[in-house]
Amino acid sequence: MGSCVIVQWSFVALLWLQIATVTSEVSVQNLRDSLEGPFGVIRHRTANPAGKAAARRHIIAKFEEYGLDVTVQNFNGSSGDTDKPGTNVIGVKRGKMNGTSDDRIVAVGAHYDTVATTPGVDDDGSGMAAMLEMARVMTSCSQQNYTVIFVAFDNEEVPITPSHASERPCDIGRGADDFVCSWLLPFLNSTGRPAEFQGIFMLETIMNYDLRPNVQNLPNPIGFQLFFPTLYRELQATNFTGNFITLIRKPEEERLVASVVQTWEDRAKEPVGAITRDVQLPITGKPSVALTNTFFDLVGRSDCVSFWVQEPYLRCVYVTDTADYRGTMQQCYHSSCDNVTSITPDKLTFLAKVTDSILQTTMKLAEVEKDTCTDTTGDADTTGVTSAARDSHGAWSIIQLLSVHVWIWSILQYSCAVHII
Ligand SMILES: *[C@@H]1O[C@H](CO)[C@@H](O)[C@H](O)[C@H]1NC(C)=O
Ligand SMILES: *[C@@H]1O[C@H](CO)[C@@H](O)[C@H](O)[C@H]1NC(C)=O
Ligand SMILES: *[C@@H]1O[C@H](CO)[C@@H](O)[C@H](O)[C@H]1NC(C)=O
Ligand SMILES: *[C@@H]1O[C@H](CO)[C@@H](O)[C@H](O)[C@H]1NC(C)=O
Ligand SMILES: *[C@@H]1O[C@H](CO)[C@@H](O)[C@H](O)[C@H]1NC(C)=O
Ligand SMILES: *[C@@H]1O[C@H](CO)[C@@H](O)[C@H](O)[C@H]1NC(C)=O
Repeated sequence: MGSCVIVQWSFVALLWLQIATVTSEVSVQNLRDSLEGPFGVIRHRTANPAGKAAARRHIIAKFEEYGLDVTVQNFNGSSGDTDKPGTNVIGVKRGKMNGTSDDRIVAVGAHYDTVATTPGVDDDGSGMAAMLEMARVMTSCSQQNYTVIFVAFDNEEVPITPSHASERPCDIGRGADDFVCSWLLPFLNSTGRPAEFQGIFMLETIMNYDLRPNVQNLPNPIGFQLFFPTLYRELQATNFTGNFITLIRKPEEERLVASVVQTWEDRAKEPVGAITRDVQLPITGKPSVALTNTFFDLVGRSDCVSFWVQEPYLRCVYVTDTADYRGTMQQCYHSSCDNVTSITPDKLTFLAKVTDSILQTTMKLAEVEKDTCTDTTGDADTTGVTSAARDSHGAWSIIQLLSVHVWIWSILQYSCAVHII
């Protein structure tokens, strides 16, 4: 009889644990709210300073609400550009190894500024929405081994001069290089022997899912075919549909990308046709800004450049839907039509899938103890088609899980009754 009770109670505990894990989910409604709210209006220093300031206040407020240690990093523009000051917002969630050289820090970044001519819903409202949602879910967990840094960059949308930037990599003129040089390196160094930086996932324009044929353009198609023959053939075989998220990286970031790809495959979620594409650049070590900028213009635009040009151990994975190389963004990139009317249920579910896979990967790398997460599904609203679909999907997994458990429970009860155990 005693063993029977123990088995039954262990079973109940296990069930509770599994439900806790299932409900620790990305909320499509939260993503939508971000895009229709602070990240659906122009966020440019002169074209709409109020919109930019409101977005910044929103980020600070959310980081504080989630209990992160917040730093507001003001910086001046690069030497030639002192009239372009900016502000990064940094939120830190400390792990058990914080402040020691055994810490293995993981980071997630996105930029909150836009050019003057666009509300920037995809560029980069999508990255900001994803990052805030990741911070929300992750801060519901109370135990983790390693520190996670969330950073909202300013001044990603500034033109840079590769030759100037190569000479002075701390002075590229973007918020990201001020973060690296004036905040991250001292932070890593604050314990004597530097802590390890596992890497940063740079979320830059990540929601434009488009299944129509021939919507995927390539930067420099001839060069692309030459450098990435296999990938080119794969794109050709799918008729150049925009069904993928791109993970652009150097050889140094192989482990990070492998982890994302594994997570993506493990977490079967809609849209089921969405896949990852790993693009390993043929540049290693510490490339010059000029090299990253001339290889493909897409690469040089990324905030990853500020990490790559400093040190090979400042690993960065550039996560993108390829921006102006795909579908309607060919017209809407940096234009007024990258706005809230472009949000479709398909794009939102794609964004949720990207968010989820980077979130789960970051949690794995930071060694978050999942049973200490209290979740936090925010999907109360079921009015949107997508969120309804996602919710019923979530509910369906729980129903399936429960029915399996009811089965096992009945068998247990029967076994106990007839004294099998
Ligand atoms: C920006 O430049 C001004 C004027 O040179 C200086 O007083 C200020 O300390 C600088 N701010 C930062 C954050 O470097
Ligand atoms: C940070 O490190 C200190 C000292 O090692 C430790 O006491 C504290 O629990 C750590 N913080 C977290 C959130 O784990
Ligand atoms: C890190 O610390 C080492 C030695 O303690 C020092 O030589 C190096 O300049 C520091 N680097 C930074 C970026 O602060
Ligand atoms: C690509 O397009 C061709 C011609 O329209 C069609 O026959 C083929 O099935 C398409 N392939 C895929 C994977 O959609
Ligand atoms: C938003 O974009 C749509 C096209 O996607 C366009 O018709 C509409 O005019 C844009 N709205 C604004 C306010 O620019
Ligand atoms: C955290 O670190 C401890 C000690 O190294 C280890 O036993 C534990 O498995 C780690 N937690 C996770 C979730 O990996």
